[in-house]
Amino acid sequence: MSKSLRVAVLGPKGQCGSCVVDELLSRGHSVVGISRSPPKAWPKSGEYGGIPCDFSDIKGLSKILSDGGFDAVVSAFAPPLANFEAVYTLGVEGHGNIKMAILRSTYRGPFIIIGGAGSLYYKNGVQLCDDESFAFKHWYAWPDVHLDYMSTRMFDHGQRAFGTFIRTFKWARSNRENPGWFSWMFRPFANWFLRSAKKTLTHRNTVGLIFCSRAALTMWEGVQETKWSFLSPPWQLRDKGIRTGKYEVHVDDTAGSAEYGIDNGIYNEDMAVAIVDEVENNKLTHKHWTCTGPIGLKDCTHQVLDLALSGV
Ligand SMILES: NC(=O)c1ccc[n+]([C@@H]2O[C@H](COP(=O)([O-])OP(=O)(O)OC[C@H]3O[C@@H](n4cnc5c(N)ncnc54)[C@H](OP(=O)(O)O)[C@@H]3O)[C@@H](O)[C@H]2O)c1
Repeated sequence: MSKSLRVAVLGPKGQCGSCVVDELLSRGHSVVGISRSPPKAWPKSGEYGGIPCDFSDIKGLSKILSDGGFDAVVSAFAPPLANFEAVYTLGVEGHGNIKMAILRSTYRGPFIIIGGAGSLYYKNGVQLCDDESFAFKHWYAWPDVHLDYMSTRMFDHGQRAFGTFIRTFKWARSNRENPGWFSWMFRPFANWFLRSAKKTLTHRNTVGLIFCSRAALTMWEGVQETKWSFLSPPWQLRDKGIRTGKYEVHVDDTAGSAEYGIDNGIYNEDMAVAIVDEVENNKLTHKHWTCTGPIGLKDCTHQVLDLALSGV
């Protein structure tokens, strides 16, 4: 790294934002965290400050961005998940407000937005979130370790009901796919649960976060006024992992496809490495991309998936 940068992180205390702040500070950059209630100080050493701002205050956010002297801005914004019915609306409004604040500010440097895996394209041109039975069959394909991670994440977010749903989903899938001696006794319940889960996981409200992230990508594509770069994390993004420093970038454009991100994953810590590399090098301006890393997800097989779906 040649010089220390001043970087604004929108949403510094979230699962993605906090890793980005850690990575920036570890490389000697100074960070300003902006959100409704950003941490005032950072537990790790480095130059960090927080500025409170609700992104619905477009004028306020625009002024912070104009006056901040930032070399780069990273958005790790996500709407609160407390009320699933409101997630899509809050997400679209939040991303839209951030866009307006950036465009109305005098800031014109690099702007990296973290969106969602649902926006990634298969090679056939279909986006993951438009695939048949999204997101039920894509959850069914997750390895146990990822379902464990997802339930833990929901409990961390105070979403106890959804956390319990995920644990039961894992149990029901196992009852069908890896039956033990007495599994048949509970099979009717497992089948009933999976049928209900299919209704839930294909319901628009449940996947509101994924669809609002796709709307955010649509908002930025074609915009020339800023140096935006849109990262859709891979489908199996996990935090509380390890930082290996290894990752691969896959770009969705006419020259290539980021489909690899649909069946693979990365630890948040390694995704932060990719983000901060982009902050420093600006190689993916006006691109939609993903990054994948070594988390050993190869046991997720589509054969199992097809068998399972035949009876659900
Ligand atoms: N596999 C995947 O595709 C995948 C997985 C996970 C996350 N993601 C994406 O990664 C991005 C970040 O998600 P995350 O899970 O890290 O989010 P998160 O943990 O929920 O954190 C969200 C952040 O946004 C801030 N925020 C929320 N509403 C705000 C408002 N009105 N004004 C100002 N700040 C606000 C929060 O801070 P305050 O509470 O202080 O306001 C918080 O720091 C999202 O786009 C999400 O879709 C993708």
